[in-house]
Amino acid sequence: MSIARSTTSACEPVAIAPRVGRRRFLSGAAAAIAVPWLARGARGADIDRFALGIASGQPRADGVVLWTRLTGDALGERIAVQWEVASDERFADVVARGDELAEAAWAHSVHAEAAGLAPGRWYWYRFRALGQQSAVGRTRTAPAADSAATLRFAIASCQRFDVGHYTAWRDVASSSLDFVAFLGDYIYESAERKNPVRGVAGGEAFSLEQYRARYATYKSDPALQAAHAAAPGLVVWDDHEVSNDYAGFRGENLAVDMRARRAVAYRAYWEHMPFPRSVRPLDADMRITGRVDWGRLARIHLLDDRQYRDPQACPKPGRGGSNNVLLNQCPALADPARTLLGAEQEAWLAAGWDLERPWNLVAQQTLMARVTWLDPAVGGGAYWTDGWDGYAPARRRLLATVAAKKVPGVVVLGGDVHSNYVADLRVDFDDERSAVIASEFCGTSITSLPGVPQARIDQAREYNPHLRYGRSDERGYVRFEVDARELRASLRVVERPADPDSNVVTAARFVVDAAQPGPRAA
Ligand SMILES: [Fe+2]
Repeated sequence: MSIARSTTSACEPVAIAPRVGRRRFLSGAAAAIAVPWLARGARGADIDRFALGIASGQPRADGVVLWTRLTGDALGERIAVQWEVASDERFADVVARGDELAEAAWAHSVHAEAAGLAPGRWYWYRFRALGQQSAVGRTRTAPAADSAATLRFAIASCQRFDVGHYTAWRDVASSSLDFVAFLGDYIYESAERKNPVRGVAGGEAFSLEQYRARYATYKSDPALQAAHAAAPGLVVWDDHEVSNDYAGFRGENLAVDMRARRAVAYRAYWEHMPFPRSVRPLDADMRITGRVDWGRLARIHLLDDRQYRDPQACPKPGRGGSNNVLLNQCPALADPARTLLGAEQEAWLAAGWDLERPWNLVAQQTLMARVTWLDPAVGGGAYWTDGWDGYAPARRRLLATVAAKKVPGVVVLGGDVHSNYVADLRVDFDDERSAVIASEFCGTSITSLPGVPQARIDQAREYNPHLRYGRSDERGYVRFEVDARELRASLRVVERPADPDSNVVTAARFVVDAAQPGPRAA
């Protein structure tokens, strides 16, 4: 599968439209979905070969990965697919093009690695196969290493299809973002719930075909497709891309062969995400850990807290997975040998903090701030063992390194818990005099339902004074604007989740000063 790259003007400077000019293409009534460059070439064809849309990801200063997956019956073993990248939405100036083979063995997915692009600018891309043309997507390269560029991005997570509408994705698509970080639970492997908002066929996923079908269902949504077509993605997984609460090679159900399940689930994940070929899984192993540097502004660390973790402490009898336990009744919670990231990834993170740029953005899966659900006077407090609270000594190691190295601008980003949490991070959460050394924004779910009632969060606030915000009754995502001086966060919330045409509003705003860790309400 050779990638032919055009050298035509790939390195020549091309004037980019100012931000106001770009908005012209993205705003407007039907928002997101009816933008001009999303017009579909395949519409009207008997069989839509691009029914799952397109996406881009892994932006670097000189390139980006372009993704699609061919659809429809009677696809051969190998299908030739052409792609092209242009500096304008009309494709008058094509700066890179190439050919890929979409193979049945990899679900006819395409992962084209466009290279030789200019840093810090918008590009448009499209595919052609079997006489059809895909929708047009817009993507962006990372700024050059010496660039003073600012950053606009969003975090999103937990988009269970059968429990809600992708209203939040319409808002993402119209937000003119440099990238969208998806922090896990892109699909849910579970069988459809009772009385679903939208149907999901096929029962609980175990086989490769079932996982592939699940991605196809999720990716059929036009709002999700529009969001992917509007900006590149940085993606990591959580548990539901494989199975609820899995840890390394242990699942909730100890009788299931997790090595086999992980292998097919990881394969389907790679097939449907804009990852390069170098990340393609080998059996049950796939490395998604990585870093992206954003000019002189930020280093983004992408972590994997599923593949390498120790099993959860003190599970329910005969089961794997999470539990809620009292600290004093579960000595394993205090065992410093247990890790959430695995020893190798933990060391990789500790060695790779950026001490020069003002921001270190940590894109990972779940809530890092300590949350005890009961007064710590009762049995030492009550903790959920699947999150960082189940691996408190590893969390302390991570945060102690941040404190010791005086790592600038550490902002931990997460998802998983279907709630908006904004928090101060301290090395010692039990000591209010312990300095705030980092900030946390754990974004709520796109659709997935809350596991914890709001009343319980409200009740627990007094034991967790480092939580600045905690709402399980909000669906949406979090949008950020970052410059060298401050990071501004907007918690975007779907006003009426039952209504697919609902407004999306800003429920709260926070600011983090680059020189002073800890989010402040704005
Ligand atoms: Fe989730």
